[in-house]
Amino acid sequence: MKRPILVTRTLPSSVMMRLEAACEVDRVEGPGAITHDELMARIDGRHALLSMVTDVVDQSVIEAGTALRVIANVAVGYNNIDVVAARERGIIVTNTPDVLTEATADFTLALILAVTRRLGEGERMLRRNDWSGWAFDQLLGMQLGGRQLGVVGFGRIGKAVAARASAFGMTVAHSSRSGDGIPLDRLLSTSDVVSLHVPLTPETHHLIGQAEFARMKRSAYLINTTRGPVVDEAALAWALGNRLIAGAALDVYEREPDVHSDLLSFENVVLAPHLGSATAETRTAMANLAASNIIAVLGGEPPLTPVL
Ligand code: DGY
Repeated sequence: MKRPILVTRTLPSSVMMRLEAACEVDRVEGPGAITHDELMARIDGRHALLSMVTDVVDQSVIEAGTALRVIANVAVGYNNIDVVAARERGIIVTNTPDVLTEATADFTLALILAVTRRLGEGERMLRRNDWSGWAFDQLLGMQLGGRQLGVVGFGRIGKAVAARASAFGMTVAHSSRSGDGIPLDRLLSTSDVVSLHVPLTPETHHLIGQAEFARMKRSAYLINTTRGPVVDEAALAWALGNRLIAGAALDVYEREPDVHSDLLSFENVVLAPHLGSATAETRTAMANLAASNIIAVLGGEPPLTPVL
């Protein structure tokens, strides 16, 4: 008998076909995120939940999901899930590591280049019809070759970003929770570009705040492609307003989809709408991996990528 599952977003048809062949699928239609109320109303009786980074799978959802055996998150991060509550009820939680490493690292380099070469500023100038032609000293940026990239969090994505930055002639320093690399303070005070790749946990919430911005070089840039709350957005606006850093490029925000209003007004900030893993190939691979986790667990097999 096919087990009932809930899928919270429209997925590629090839993935839906795999899931529908193995399970009784309740799928949420439309482009928007499922509300918490709707999630609560639809979770009971489902053996699996295929969730997105935008779904808040908190203790109340987990308690409402009395038949749940697996929650498969379509993301490498899983801060949207109360993993402790799930574990207490014997529910397996899985994520999608590896398949998004290259896409996210590529996008991080895109942000580094965009902010250091003032691409957003230039494009806005053109669109405003304000460009009067080539000028010798127009929108001069910072060359990457010979500069230091500081990678905070040296896991899969941090390492992939480091490899790309090396190809651009950057030297790389890193700090990580395991203690290898250099202390965060030293990384902040010596790096020309600081790129964040730690997961969001209680320990990394507001890891970068006023004190950390004050340590950075005034010529340095901050890049955040991990999770918004790792950076204190109000402190970032303060640092930019006081010219404590040269600029920032962000893909993630403290209260998505809201962006701190001050950040919208700074020319030296590049803002992207959480696109790190957004290639067709990668999103399909992420959805397929989440589907494989559900099919494995409901078929009595171990999950492929459990959250440990
Ligand atoms: C992730 O995998 O954690 C991303 O933020 C989702 O795109």
